[in-house]
Amino acid sequence: MSTLNRVFNIFLFIFIGKLHLIGCRAIFSLDLGGQQELDRVSKLPGQNFNISFAHSAGYVTVNEEFGRALFYWLFEAEEEPSSKPLVLWLNGGPGCSAIGYGLAEEIGPFHVEKDGKTLYLNPNSWNKVANILFVDTPVGVGFSYSNTSNDLLNNGDKSTAADNLEFFVQWFKLFPQYKGRDFYITGESYAGHYIPQLSQAIVRHNLNNEEEVINLKGFMVGNALIDDFYDQLGRFQFLWSVGMISDQTFKQLNIFCDFGSFLHTSEQCNKVLDISLEEMGDIDIYSIFTPPCTANFNRFNQLLKRKKKVGLIKRAYDPCTLQHSVIYFNLPEVQNALHVHSKNSPSKWETCSDEVNKNWKDSAMSVLNIYRELIHLGLRIWIFSGDSDAVVPVTSTRYSIDALELPTISPWRAWYDYGQVGGWIQEYQGLTFVVVRGAGHEVPLHKPKQALTLIKSFLSGTSMPKLETLSDS
Ligand SMILES: *[C@@H]1O[C@H](CO)[C@@H](O)[C@H](O)[C@H]1NC(C)=O
Ligand SMILES: *[C@@H]1O[C@H](CO)[C@@H](O)[C@H](O)[C@H]1NC(C)=O
Repeated sequence: MSTLNRVFNIFLFIFIGKLHLIGCRAIFSLDLGGQQELDRVSKLPGQNFNISFAHSAGYVTVNEEFGRALFYWLFEAEEEPSSKPLVLWLNGGPGCSAIGYGLAEEIGPFHVEKDGKTLYLNPNSWNKVANILFVDTPVGVGFSYSNTSNDLLNNGDKSTAADNLEFFVQWFKLFPQYKGRDFYITGESYAGHYIPQLSQAIVRHNLNNEEEVINLKGFMVGNALIDDFYDQLGRFQFLWSVGMISDQTFKQLNIFCDFGSFLHTSEQCNKVLDISLEEMGDIDIYSIFTPPCTANFNRFNQLLKRKKKVGLIKRAYDPCTLQHSVIYFNLPEVQNALHVHSKNSPSKWETCSDEVNKNWKDSAMSVLNIYRELIHLGLRIWIFSGDSDAVVPVTSTRYSIDALELPTISPWRAWYDYGQVGGWIQEYQGLTFVVVRGAGHEVPLHKPKQALTLIKSFLSGTSMPKLETLSDS
């Protein structure tokens, strides 16, 4: 483009802008943020209540050549959104949807009733304290898609980090009001890879793009994969110490699985893992003290219902929430309301994509080196762990943190939640570790109130609450 042309284009743009400004203010702002307006979600099917916050959903193209687009859903904070930080939530898998897990059964405002058609408000939604953004990543997950079907067979850690970075470069253009806003990344499980990897990509991007700096302040991961060796070592010890597997299987796991990767285990290790699963029985390994979502649970639940009076004050734990989401997010009217490209995106909405999971191309054996790099840059980094998860248990996380050899600032202590021990905390130089007592793999699902306390403490950079001493007065 010649200089003259460029000057002309800029002139034309300003001219059109002015014209609209004179004619109608609303049209002017619509022109500048047109896509943002189009992505606004009005009342959703099954939403029988009014809300005090705005939300938007749609796509951001991360690769034009191949036609890759990631689906996002943004919820503004309930109060004063313009003064609150932006918090991203990612789920893992690889292949699992942040809409299905993070939003609909953990930290999002909208959860789905048993009928799969009706929504209810989550009283502990994280948009009480921040603007929260969910992104389904990579392509092939949830409503995210690629027009090049081969892309779904070639996802991996590296391409996911690159696409996620591109997502944010573009997303901040779509939502310029968030440019420069304090930005935090949170999530769990396999997002223990995505989150440090994206943080590293953002930090490097910022070095080379002074005009497009993404104001990343820190990240927080829960029950996160961090290091294949420590994750496995800690997992076997957890399974054995809580009494879920036999002594013999414990020994064999340590012999045959020692140095294999977490995702791609050896044939012999797989055999012992199968034996261990058999020994554990029909249990929810993501939350060992709560009932699994099985036919048995449904039968038990029906019996219970018949005995109980209607109108429970407190919503009982429901292990089958994912099933309700599968019904809801496959409704065509719901997909329309969310601006889903149903022609391009996966034909059936799934909580996790087997295709993405089975074809994962590269998985870092450890992300501890990224922690070492980022800790020195002064990012706020928190790691939390629900202590009744047998998939990425608290023991695994402790081994990984120990390997960082960080000096302790504030020693191990209990933290409190309304007079009860909510868990434990240790603060290191550059990293804070929080155990959430009685929570499974998805901490905000099992301990929603405590998880809200956690995000509040994280965002304000303060320690977890101590036991309040009751005064005499
Ligand atoms: C929601 O707001 C509308 C318009 O103000 C009102 O007519 C309606 O009764 C409200 N619904 C509920 C459930 O509060
Ligand atoms: C995918 O292809 C459809 C048309 O088939 C097009 O409308 C859409 O914009 C493409 N998506 C991307 C991300 O390029």
